[in-house]
Amino acid sequence: EQDKFKQVISHAKEYGYIFSSSEIYDGLSAVYDYGQNGVELKNNIKNYWWKSMVQMHEEIVGLDAAILMHPKTWEASGHVDAFNDPLIDNKDSKKRYRADVLVEDYVEKLEQKAQKEIKKAEKRFGDKFDEQEFVSTHPRVVKYRQQSKEILERLGESLNNGDLVDVRNLIDELEIACPASGSRDWTDVKQFNLMFGTKLGASAESASDLYLRPETAQGIFVNFANVQKTSRHKIPFGIAQIGKAFRNEIVARQFIFRQREFEQMEMQYFVRPGEELKWFEHWKETRYKWHQSLGLGEENYRFHDHENLAHYANAATDIEFKFPFGFKELEGIHSRTDFDLKAHEELSGKKLQFYDPELKENYTPFVVETSIGLDRMFLAVFSAALQDEDLGDGKSRTVLKIPPILAPHKAAIFPLLKRDGLPEIAKEIMKELQWDFNVIYDEKDAVGRRYRRQDAAGTPFCITVDHDTKEDGTVTIRHRDSMEQQRVKIEDLKAIIQKEVDF
Ligand code: GAP
Repeated sequence: EQDKFKQVISHAKEYGYIFSSSEIYDGLSAVYDYGQNGVELKNNIKNYWWKSMVQMHEEIVGLDAAILMHPKTWEASGHVDAFNDPLIDNKDSKKRYRADVLVEDYVEKLEQKAQKEIKKAEKRFGDKFDEQEFVSTHPRVVKYRQQSKEILERLGESLNNGDLVDVRNLIDELEIACPASGSRDWTDVKQFNLMFGTKLGASAESASDLYLRPETAQGIFVNFANVQKTSRHKIPFGIAQIGKAFRNEIVARQFIFRQREFEQMEMQYFVRPGEELKWFEHWKETRYKWHQSLGLGEENYRFHDHENLAHYANAATDIEFKFPFGFKELEGIHSRTDFDLKAHEELSGKKLQFYDPELKENYTPFVVETSIGLDRMFLAVFSAALQDEDLGDGKSRTVLKIPPILAPHKAAIFPLLKRDGLPEIAKEIMKELQWDFNVIYDEKDAVGRRYRRQDAAGTPFCITVDHDTKEDGTVTIRHRDSMEQQRVKIEDLKAIIQKEVDF
Protein backbone atom coordinates (compact mmCIF):
# COMPACT_ATOMS: atom_id res chain seq x y z
CA GLU A 1 0.00 0.00 0.00
CA GLN A 2 2.88 2.35 0.83
CA ASP A 3 4.40 1.53 -2.56
CA LYS A 4 1.14 2.27 -4.35
CA PHE A 5 0.92 5.64 -2.61
CA LYS A 6 4.49 6.51 -3.65
CA GLN A 7 3.68 5.45 -7.21
CA VAL A 8 0.60 7.70 -7.24
CA ILE A 9 2.67 10.72 -6.13
CA SER A 10 5.48 10.16 -8.62
CA HIS A 11 3.12 9.34 -11.50
CA ALA A 12 1.10 12.49 -10.79
CA LYS A 13 4.28 14.52 -11.12
CA GLU A 14 5.76 12.72 -14.12
CA TYR A 15 2.58 13.11 -16.18
CA GLY A 16 1.91 16.76 -15.35
CA TYR A 17 -0.94 16.24 -12.90
CA ILE A 18 0.40 17.57 -9.58
CA PHE A 19 3.53 19.46 -8.54
CA SER A 20 4.64 20.69 -5.12
CA SER A 21 3.88 24.39 -4.79
CA SER A 22 6.91 26.65 -5.45
CA GLU A 23 9.01 23.54 -5.93
CA ILE A 24 12.16 25.42 -7.00
CA TYR A 25 12.25 26.77 -3.43
CA ASP A 26 11.84 23.23 -2.06
CA GLY A 27 8.04 23.46 -1.95
CA LEU A 28 5.59 24.68 0.65
CA SER A 29 4.33 22.06 3.03
CA ALA A 30 0.84 20.72 2.24
CA VAL A 31 0.32 23.11 -0.69
CA TYR A 32 0.19 21.78 -4.26
CA ASP A 33 -0.12 23.01 -7.86
CA TYR A 34 -2.10 21.26 -10.56
CA GLY A 35 -0.20 20.86 -13.84
CA GLN A 36 -1.35 20.80 -17.45
CA ASN A 37 -3.23 17.50 -17.07
CA GLY A 38 -4.22 18.05 -13.44
CA VAL A 39 -6.10 21.25 -14.19
CA GLU A 40 -8.12 19.46 -16.90
CA LEU A 41 -9.02 16.54 -14.62
CA LYS A 42 -9.95 18.95 -11.85
CA ASN A 43 -12.14 21.05 -14.17
CA ASN A 44 -13.84 17.90 -15.48
CA ILE A 45 -14.63 16.73 -11.92
CA LYS A 46 -16.05 20.17 -11.15
CA ASN A 47 -18.21 20.07 -14.28
CA TYR A 48 -19.43 16.58 -13.54
CA TRP A 49 -20.46 17.64 -10.03
CA TRP A 50 -21.96 20.96 -11.15
CA LYS A 51 -23.97 19.37 -13.95
CA SER A 52 -25.43 16.67 -11.74
CA MET A 53 -26.12 18.97 -8.79
CA VAL A 54 -27.17 22.26 -10.45
CA GLN A 55 -28.05 21.60 -14.08
CA MET A 56 -29.97 18.40 -13.38
CA HIS A 57 -31.85 19.76 -10.35
CA GLU A 58 -34.47 22.36 -11.11
CA GLU A 59 -34.54 23.40 -7.45
CA ILE A 60 -30.77 23.87 -6.97
CA VAL A 61 -28.98 27.05 -8.03
CA GLY A 62 -25.31 28.03 -7.99
CA LEU A 63 -23.34 30.71 -6.17
CA ASP A 64 -19.79 32.05 -6.20
CA ALA A 65 -19.24 33.90 -2.93
CA ALA A 66 -16.01 35.71 -2.03
CA ILE A 67 -13.26 34.00 -0.05
CA LEU A 68 -12.99 37.05 2.23
CA MET A 69 -16.04 37.57 4.42
CA HIS A 70 -17.06 39.88 7.24
CA PRO A 71 -15.25 38.65 10.37
CA LYS A 72 -18.55 38.32 12.26
CA THR A 73 -19.38 35.43 9.92
CA TRP A 74 -16.85 33.28 11.74
CA GLU A 75 -18.07 34.32 15.16
CA ALA A 76 -21.59 33.26 14.24
CA SER A 77 -20.53 29.99 12.64
CA GLY A 78 -18.55 29.01 15.72
CA HIS A 79 -15.22 28.87 13.90
CA VAL A 80 -13.56 31.54 16.08
CA ASP A 81 -14.34 29.61 19.25
CA ALA A 82 -14.47 26.02 18.17
CA PHE A 83 -12.52 25.37 14.95
CA ASN A 84 -9.51 24.01 16.76
CA ASP A 85 -7.09 21.13 16.73
CA PRO A 86 -5.70 19.85 20.04
CA LEU A 87 -1.93 20.23 19.84
CA ILE A 88 0.86 18.87 22.00
CA ASP A 89 4.60 19.62 21.93
CA ASN A 90 7.38 17.22 22.75
CA LYS A 91 9.79 18.98 25.12
CA ASP A 92 12.88 17.14 23.88
CA SER A 93 12.45 17.19 20.12
CA LYS A 94 10.53 20.52 20.20
CA LYS A 95 8.22 18.98 17.61
CA ARG A 96 4.49 19.70 17.54
CA TYR A 97 1.80 17.07 16.97
CA ARG A 98 -1.96 16.77 16.89
CA ALA A 99 -2.77 14.98 20.12
CA ASP A 100 -5.77 13.17 18.60
CA VAL A 101 -3.65 11.95 15.69
CA LEU A 102 -1.00 10.53 18.06
CA VAL A 103 -3.74 8.51 19.73
CA GLU A 104 -5.26 7.47 16.40
CA ASP A 105 -1.84 6.32 15.17
CA TYR A 106 -1.56 4.18 18.31
CA VAL A 107 -4.92 2.60 17.52
CA GLU A 108 -3.83 2.06 13.92
CA LYS A 109 -0.84 0.08 15.21
CA LEU A 110 -3.17 -2.11 17.28
CA GLU A 111 -5.18 -2.79 14.14
CA GLN A 112 -1.99 -3.65 12.23
CA LYS A 113 -1.18 -6.20 14.95
CA ALA A 114 -4.66 -7.68 14.57
CA GLN A 115 -4.21 -7.85 10.80
CA LYS A 116 -0.91 -9.67 11.26
CA GLU A 117 -2.62 -12.34 13.36
CA ILE A 118 -5.36 -12.67 10.75
CA LYS A 119 -2.86 -13.08 7.89
CA LYS A 120 -0.90 -15.67 9.88
CA ALA A 121 -4.02 -17.73 10.55
CA GLU A 122 -5.16 -17.40 6.95
CA LYS A 123 -1.89 -18.94 5.83
CA ARG A 124 -2.13 -21.72 8.39
CA PHE A 125 -5.75 -22.72 7.76
CA GLY A 126 -5.91 -22.09 4.00
CA ASP A 127 -9.37 -22.75 2.51
CA LYS A 128 -10.78 -23.66 5.91
CA PHE A 129 -10.13 -20.19 7.30
CA ASP A 130 -13.25 -18.44 8.55
CA GLU A 131 -12.29 -14.82 9.19
CA GLN A 132 -15.47 -13.83 11.03
CA GLU A 133 -15.19 -16.73 13.41
CA PHE A 134 -11.46 -16.07 13.92
CA VAL A 135 -11.74 -12.35 14.76
CA SER A 136 -14.56 -12.95 17.23
CA THR A 137 -12.76 -15.71 19.14
CA HIS A 138 -9.00 -15.22 18.89
CA PRO A 139 -8.00 -13.72 22.29
CA ARG A 140 -5.31 -11.35 21.04
CA VAL A 141 -7.38 -10.03 18.11
CA VAL A 142 -10.41 -9.59 20.37
CA LYS A 143 -8.23 -7.72 22.87
CA TYR A 144 -6.68 -5.39 20.24
CA ARG A 145 -10.07 -4.52 18.78
CA GLN A 146 -11.69 -3.99 22.19
CA GLN A 147 -8.81 -1.75 23.29
CA SER A 148 -9.07 0.28 20.06
CA LYS A 149 -12.77 0.79 20.59
CA GLU A 150 -12.34 1.94 24.17
CA ILE A 151 -9.49 4.31 23.31
CA LEU A 152 -11.38 5.94 20.44
CA GLU A 153 -14.54 6.30 22.52
CA ARG A 154 -12.64 7.98 25.32
CA LEU A 155 -10.80 10.26 22.89
CA GLY A 156 -14.06 11.27 21.18
CA GLU A 157 -15.74 11.98 24.49
CA SER A 158 -12.83 14.02 25.88
CA LEU A 159 -12.57 16.11 22.71
CA ASN A 160 -16.32 16.69 22.60
CA ASN A 161 -16.26 17.85 26.22
CA GLY A 162 -13.15 19.97 25.67
CA ASP A 163 -11.40 17.89 28.34
CA LEU A 164 -7.80 18.37 27.17
CA VAL A 165 -6.36 17.16 30.47
CA ASP A 166 -7.86 13.75 29.82
CA VAL A 167 -6.44 13.69 26.28
CA ARG A 168 -3.01 14.30 27.83
CA ASN A 169 -3.69 11.56 30.43
CA LEU A 170 -4.59 9.16 27.66
CA ILE A 171 -1.27 9.84 25.91
CA ASP A 172 0.55 9.16 29.19
CA GLU A 173 -1.43 6.00 29.95
CA LEU A 174 -0.77 4.57 26.48
CA GLU A 175 2.91 5.54 26.90
CA ILE A 176 2.90 7.19 23.48
CA ALA A 177 6.38 8.35 22.49
CA CYS A 178 7.36 11.20 20.17
CA PRO A 179 7.74 9.70 16.65
CA ALA A 180 10.83 11.87 16.05
CA SER A 181 12.77 11.40 19.30
CA GLY A 182 11.19 8.51 21.17
CA SER A 183 10.81 10.82 24.18
CA ARG A 184 7.69 10.81 26.37
CA ASP A 185 8.23 14.28 27.80
CA TRP A 186 5.09 16.06 26.57
CA THR A 187 3.64 19.52 27.27
CA ASP A 188 -0.05 20.05 28.08
CA VAL A 189 -2.54 19.78 25.22
CA LYS A 190 -3.64 23.18 23.87
CA GLN A 191 -6.26 24.22 21.34
CA PHE A 192 -4.98 25.77 18.12
CA ASN A 193 -7.32 27.60 15.74
CA LEU A 194 -7.09 26.38 12.15
CA MET A 195 -8.15 29.58 10.42
CA PHE A 196 -5.60 31.65 8.47
CA GLY A 197 -5.72 35.30 9.48
CA THR A 198 -5.09 38.23 7.18
CA LYS A 199 -5.57 42.03 7.20
CA LEU A 200 -7.98 44.26 5.34
CA GLY A 201 -6.79 47.81 4.68
CA ALA A 202 -3.43 49.51 4.28
CA SER A 203 -2.46 51.33 7.45
CA ALA A 204 -1.68 49.44 10.63
CA GLU A 205 -4.23 51.39 12.71
CA SER A 206 -7.19 51.12 10.37
CA ALA A 207 -6.57 47.56 9.21
CA SER A 208 -9.07 45.00 10.41
CA ASP A 209 -8.54 41.33 11.00
CA LEU A 210 -10.04 38.92 8.52
CA TYR A 211 -9.88 35.19 7.94
CA LEU A 212 -9.52 33.19 4.77
CA ARG A 213 -12.69 31.08 4.73
CA PRO A 214 -12.20 27.59 6.18
CA GLU A 215 -15.33 26.30 4.39
CA THR A 216 -17.45 27.56 1.50
CA ALA A 217 -20.72 26.84 3.35
CA GLN A 218 -20.90 30.19 5.19
CA GLY A 219 -20.96 32.12 1.89
CA ILE A 220 -24.14 30.20 1.12
CA PHE A 221 -25.76 30.80 4.53
CA VAL A 222 -25.20 34.56 4.51
CA ASN A 223 -26.66 34.72 0.98
CA PHE A 224 -29.68 32.57 1.77
CA ALA A 225 -32.19 35.44 1.72
CA ASN A 226 -30.65 37.10 -1.39
CA VAL A 227 -30.82 33.92 -3.42
CA GLN A 228 -34.22 32.80 -2.14
CA LYS A 229 -35.85 36.14 -2.90
CA THR A 230 -34.27 36.67 -6.33
CA SER A 231 -34.63 33.07 -7.51
CA ARG A 232 -38.15 32.85 -6.01
CA HIS A 233 -37.56 29.20 -5.14
CA LYS A 234 -39.82 27.66 -2.55
CA ILE A 235 -38.54 25.32 0.11
CA PRO A 236 -37.09 22.74 -0.37
CA PHE A 237 -34.39 24.25 -2.56
CA GLY A 238 -30.60 24.18 -2.63
CA ILE A 239 -27.59 26.44 -3.23
CA ALA A 240 -24.40 24.91 -4.61
CA GLN A 241 -20.90 26.31 -4.68
CA ILE A 242 -17.38 25.28 -5.68
CA GLY A 243 -14.48 27.21 -4.23
CA LYS A 244 -11.26 27.44 -2.29
CA ALA A 245 -11.06 26.92 1.45
CA PHE A 246 -8.06 27.34 3.75
CA ARG A 247 -7.07 25.54 6.93
CA ASN A 248 -3.80 25.73 8.79
CA GLU A 249 -3.58 21.95 9.12
CA ILE A 250 -0.89 20.70 11.48
CA VAL A 251 -0.73 17.13 10.29
CA ALA A 252 -0.32 17.49 6.58
CA ARG A 253 1.32 14.34 5.35
CA GLN A 254 -1.06 12.72 2.93
CA PHE A 255 -0.31 14.50 -0.36
CA ILE A 256 -3.40 16.32 -1.66
CA PHE A 257 -5.66 14.52 0.86
CA ARG A 258 -5.01 17.07 3.61
CA GLN A 259 -3.91 20.44 2.32
CA ARG A 260 -3.71 23.95 3.69
CA GLU A 261 -5.36 25.38 0.56
CA PHE A 262 -7.98 23.19 -1.09
CA GLU A 263 -11.30 23.26 -2.88
CA GLN A 264 -14.73 22.22 -1.69
CA MET A 265 -17.87 21.39 -3.66
CA GLU A 266 -20.74 22.05 -1.28
CA MET A 267 -24.51 22.15 -1.51
CA GLN A 268 -26.83 23.41 1.21
CA TYR A 269 -30.38 22.16 0.92
CA PHE A 270 -32.96 24.24 2.80
CA VAL A 271 -35.91 22.26 4.13
CA ARG A 272 -38.92 22.49 6.44
CA PRO A 273 -38.07 21.95 10.11
CA GLY A 274 -38.92 18.36 10.99
CA GLU A 275 -38.30 17.09 7.45
CA GLU A 276 -34.51 17.24 7.68
CA LEU A 277 -33.90 13.57 8.42
CA LYS A 278 -35.94 12.51 5.41
CA TRP A 279 -33.81 14.80 3.22
CA PHE A 280 -30.64 13.63 4.94
CA GLU A 281 -31.46 10.05 3.83
CA HIS A 282 -32.33 11.31 0.35
CA TRP A 283 -28.99 13.09 -0.10
CA LYS A 284 -27.02 10.23 1.38
CA GLU A 285 -28.46 7.97 -1.30
CA THR A 286 -28.19 10.53 -4.12
CA ARG A 287 -24.57 11.30 -3.41
CA TYR A 288 -23.69 7.60 -3.13
CA LYS A 289 -25.24 7.02 -6.57
CA TRP A 290 -23.20 9.92 -7.98
CA HIS A 291 -20.02 8.20 -6.83
CA GLN A 292 -21.14 4.84 -8.20
CA SER A 293 -21.89 6.39 -11.59
CA LEU A 294 -18.17 6.95 -12.14
CA GLY A 295 -17.37 3.25 -11.87
CA LEU A 296 -14.40 3.52 -9.51
CA GLY A 297 -15.47 0.24 -7.86
CA GLU A 298 -18.27 -0.26 -5.36
CA GLU A 299 -15.86 -2.02 -2.99
CA ASN A 300 -13.88 1.22 -2.67
CA TYR A 301 -16.71 3.07 -0.91
CA ARG A 302 -18.34 2.79 2.48
CA PHE A 303 -20.45 4.93 4.79
CA HIS A 304 -19.24 5.95 8.21
CA ASP A 305 -22.07 7.25 10.38
CA HIS A 306 -20.98 9.67 13.09
CA GLU A 307 -21.70 8.74 16.66
CA ASN A 308 -20.16 11.87 18.14
CA LEU A 309 -22.10 14.65 16.45
CA ALA A 310 -20.80 18.21 16.09
CA HIS A 311 -22.74 20.77 18.13
CA TYR A 312 -24.70 21.95 15.07
CA ALA A 313 -25.71 18.56 13.66
CA ASN A 314 -28.49 16.07 14.38
CA ALA A 315 -27.25 13.46 11.89
CA ALA A 316 -23.98 13.07 9.99
CA THR A 317 -22.29 10.52 7.80
CA ASP A 318 -19.10 10.35 5.76
CA ILE A 319 -18.72 8.66 2.43
CA GLU A 320 -15.31 7.05 2.81
CA PHE A 321 -13.08 5.97 -0.06
CA LYS A 322 -10.34 3.39 -0.08
CA PHE A 323 -7.30 5.61 -0.72
CA PRO A 324 -3.84 3.99 -1.01
CA PHE A 325 -3.46 4.66 2.75
CA GLY A 326 -6.80 3.07 3.70
CA PHE A 327 -10.46 4.07 3.99
CA LYS A 328 -10.74 7.81 4.69
CA GLU A 329 -13.37 10.55 4.47
CA LEU A 330 -14.10 11.76 0.96
CA GLU A 331 -17.43 13.50 1.45
CA GLY A 332 -19.53 14.58 4.42
CA ILE A 333 -23.32 14.69 4.54
CA HIS A 334 -24.63 16.60 7.52
CA SER A 335 -28.02 17.53 8.86
CA ARG A 336 -27.02 20.94 10.27
CA THR A 337 -30.42 21.88 11.74
CA ASP A 338 -31.11 25.65 11.80
CA PHE A 339 -27.88 26.27 13.71
CA ASP A 340 -26.12 28.42 11.09
CA LEU A 341 -29.06 30.51 9.89
CA LYS A 342 -30.19 31.15 13.47
CA ALA A 343 -26.66 32.16 14.54
CA HIS A 344 -26.40 34.60 11.61
CA GLU A 345 -29.85 36.00 12.37
CA GLU A 346 -28.81 36.64 15.93
CA LEU A 347 -25.51 38.32 15.18
CA SER A 348 -26.60 40.33 12.13
CA GLY A 349 -30.06 41.25 13.39
CA LYS A 350 -31.46 40.31 9.94
CA LYS A 351 -34.21 37.73 9.46
CA LEU A 352 -33.18 34.69 7.44
CA GLN A 353 -36.60 33.14 7.16
CA PHE A 354 -38.98 31.75 4.61
CA TYR A 355 -42.72 32.33 4.36
CA ASP A 356 -44.20 28.93 3.56
CA PRO A 357 -47.40 29.53 1.59
CA GLU A 358 -48.70 26.02 2.27
CA LEU A 359 -48.19 26.17 6.03
CA LYS A 360 -48.94 29.91 6.05
CA GLU A 361 -46.09 30.58 8.45
CA ASN A 362 -42.58 31.98 8.63
CA TYR A 363 -39.73 29.80 9.75
CA THR A 364 -35.96 29.53 9.71
CA PRO A 365 -35.24 26.59 7.40
CA PHE A 366 -33.25 23.55 8.44
CA VAL A 367 -30.24 22.60 6.34
CA VAL A 368 -28.92 19.34 4.92
CA GLU A 369 -25.44 19.76 3.52
CA THR A 370 -23.36 17.68 1.13
CA SER A 371 -19.68 18.62 1.19
CA ILE A 372 -16.99 16.96 -0.89
CA GLY A 373 -13.32 17.90 -1.19
CA LEU A 374 -12.49 18.38 -4.86
CA ASP A 375 -8.85 17.48 -4.27
CA ARG A 376 -9.85 14.32 -2.39
CA MET A 377 -12.13 13.37 -5.28
CA PHE A 378 -9.19 13.97 -7.62
CA LEU A 379 -7.01 11.67 -5.50
CA ALA A 380 -9.76 9.02 -5.41
CA VAL A 381 -10.13 9.07 -9.21
CA PHE A 382 -6.39 9.16 -9.83
CA SER A 383 -5.38 6.42 -7.39
CA ALA A 384 -8.19 4.05 -8.42
CA ALA A 385 -7.31 4.64 -12.09
CA LEU A 386 -3.57 3.97 -11.80
CA GLN A 387 -2.91 0.32 -12.60
CA ASP A 388 0.02 -1.85 -13.58
CA GLU A 389 -1.18 -4.43 -16.08
CA ASP A 390 0.48 -7.68 -16.92
CA LEU A 391 0.13 -8.22 -20.69
CA GLY A 392 1.67 -11.71 -20.74
CA ASP A 393 4.96 -12.71 -22.44
CA GLY A 394 6.86 -10.74 -19.79
CA LYS A 395 5.27 -7.50 -21.00
CA SER A 396 3.46 -5.00 -18.84
CA ARG A 397 2.05 -1.49 -19.04
CA THR A 398 1.15 1.32 -16.66
CA VAL A 399 -2.28 2.65 -17.47
CA LEU A 400 -4.39 5.42 -15.98
CA LYS A 401 -7.96 4.23 -16.44
CA ILE A 402 -9.60 7.56 -15.68
CA PRO A 403 -13.33 7.44 -16.54
CA PRO A 404 -13.41 8.86 -20.11
CA ILE A 405 -15.83 11.60 -19.07
CA LEU A 406 -13.18 12.95 -16.67
CA ALA A 407 -10.03 12.29 -18.74
CA PRO A 408 -7.91 15.42 -19.49
CA HIS A 409 -7.61 14.56 -23.20
CA LYS A 410 -10.31 12.50 -24.85
CA ALA A 411 -8.15 11.48 -27.81
CA ALA A 412 -4.58 11.67 -29.08
CA ILE A 413 -4.05 11.94 -32.83
CA PHE A 414 -0.93 10.46 -34.41
CA PRO A 415 0.45 10.39 -37.94
CA LEU A 416 2.05 6.95 -38.41
CA LEU A 417 5.09 8.67 -39.96
CA LYS A 418 6.34 12.24 -40.01
CA ARG A 419 6.13 12.39 -43.82
CA ASP A 420 4.02 11.59 -46.91
CA GLY A 421 1.42 14.19 -45.91
CA LEU A 422 0.31 12.13 -42.87
CA PRO A 423 0.98 14.90 -40.27
CA GLU A 424 -1.16 17.32 -42.29
CA ILE A 425 -4.13 14.91 -42.29
CA ALA A 426 -3.67 14.18 -38.55
CA LYS A 427 -3.63 17.91 -37.77
CA GLU A 428 -6.77 18.44 -39.82
CA ILE A 429 -8.54 15.73 -37.82
CA MET A 430 -7.31 17.34 -34.62
CA LYS A 431 -8.61 20.78 -35.68
CA GLU A 432 -12.01 19.28 -36.42
CA LEU A 433 -12.31 17.30 -33.16
CA GLN A 434 -11.06 20.29 -31.12
CA TRP A 435 -14.49 21.91 -31.46
CA ASP A 436 -16.00 19.16 -29.32
CA PHE A 437 -13.23 17.63 -27.24
CA ASN A 438 -9.89 18.40 -25.66
CA VAL A 439 -7.51 16.45 -27.93
CA ILE A 440 -3.74 16.27 -28.33
CA TYR A 441 -1.39 15.75 -31.27
CA ASP A 442 1.73 13.59 -30.98
CA GLU A 443 4.22 12.58 -33.69
CA LYS A 444 7.31 11.71 -31.63
CA ASP A 445 8.66 8.11 -31.31
CA ALA A 446 7.25 4.84 -32.66
CA VAL A 447 3.48 4.41 -32.46
CA GLY A 448 3.80 1.70 -29.77
CA ARG A 449 5.65 4.13 -27.50
CA ARG A 450 3.06 6.81 -28.17
CA TYR A 451 0.30 4.37 -27.16
CA ARG A 452 2.09 3.64 -23.87
CA ARG A 453 2.58 7.35 -23.19
CA GLN A 454 -1.12 8.07 -23.70
CA ASP A 455 -2.11 5.01 -21.60
CA ALA A 456 -0.03 6.38 -18.74
CA ALA A 457 -1.46 9.88 -19.21
CA GLY A 458 -5.03 8.53 -19.14
CA THR A 459 -6.17 9.30 -22.72
CA PRO A 460 -9.07 6.96 -23.61
CA PHE A 461 -8.59 7.00 -27.43
CA CYS A 462 -5.64 7.07 -29.82
CA ILE A 463 -6.28 7.79 -33.49
CA THR A 464 -3.62 6.87 -36.04
CA VAL A 465 -3.43 8.22 -39.58
CA ASP A 466 -1.58 5.98 -42.07
CA HIS A 467 -1.16 5.62 -45.84
CA ASP A 468 -4.57 3.94 -46.22
CA THR A 469 -6.18 7.04 -44.75
CA LYS A 470 -5.18 8.87 -47.94
CA GLU A 471 -6.88 6.21 -50.05
CA ASP A 472 -10.12 5.48 -48.19
CA GLY A 473 -10.52 8.15 -45.48
CA THR A 474 -10.29 5.65 -42.60
CA VAL A 475 -8.10 5.71 -39.49
CA THR A 476 -7.24 3.29 -36.69
CA ILE A 477 -8.85 4.04 -33.35
CA ARG A 478 -7.40 2.30 -30.31
CA HIS A 479 -9.22 1.94 -27.01
CA ARG A 480 -7.10 2.56 -23.89
CA ASP A 481 -8.68 -0.03 -21.60
CA SER A 482 -9.14 -2.99 -23.96
CA MET A 483 -6.24 -2.00 -26.26
CA GLU A 484 -8.55 -3.07 -29.11
CA GLN A 485 -8.10 -1.39 -32.45
CA GLN A 486 -10.78 -0.63 -35.02
CA ARG A 487 -10.70 0.76 -38.51
CA VAL A 488 -13.24 3.58 -38.79
CA LYS A 489 -14.17 6.44 -41.08
CA ILE A 490 -12.87 9.88 -40.12
CA GLU A 491 -16.40 11.27 -40.12
CA ASP A 492 -17.50 8.65 -37.55
CA LEU A 493 -14.82 9.62 -34.98
CA LYS A 494 -16.87 12.29 -33.29
CA ALA A 495 -19.81 9.97 -32.61
CA ILE A 496 -17.55 7.16 -31.33
CA ILE A 497 -15.81 9.45 -28.84
CA GLN A 498 -19.02 11.22 -27.89
CA LYS A 499 -20.63 7.92 -26.89
CA GLU A 500 -17.95 7.34 -24.26
CA VAL A 501 -17.58 10.85 -22.89
CA ASP A 502 -21.17 12.07 -22.83
CA PHE A 503 -22.69 12.98 -19.49
N1 GAP B 1 -19.07 22.67 5.38
C1 GAP B 1 -18.75 21.43 6.01
C2 GAP B 1 -17.32 21.12 6.04
O1 GAP B 1 -16.48 21.93 5.67
P1 GAP B 1 -15.61 19.21 6.59
O2 GAP B 1 -15.87 17.77 6.93
O3 GAP B 1 -14.74 20.00 7.49
O4 GAP B 1 -17.05 19.87 6.48
C3 GAP B 1 -15.78 18.79 4.04
O5 GAP B 1 -15.04 19.29 5.12
C4 GAP B 1 -14.88 18.09 3.04
O6 GAP B 1 -13.81 18.95 2.66
C5 GAP B 1 -14.22 16.85 3.58
O7 GAP B 1 -15.04 15.71 3.45
C6 GAP B 1 -12.98 16.74 2.72
O8 GAP B 1 -13.29 16.07 1.50
C7 GAP B 1 -12.65 18.18 2.39
N2 GAP B 1 -11.52 18.66 3.22
C8 GAP B 1 -11.57 19.07 4.50
N3 GAP B 1 -10.35 19.45 4.93
C9 GAP B 1 -9.50 19.27 3.89
C10 GAP B 1 -8.10 19.49 3.70
N4 GAP B 1 -7.33 19.99 4.66
N5 GAP B 1 -7.57 19.18 2.49
C11 GAP B 1 -8.34 18.68 1.51
N6 GAP B 1 -9.66 18.47 1.63
C12 GAP B 1 -10.25 18.75 2.80
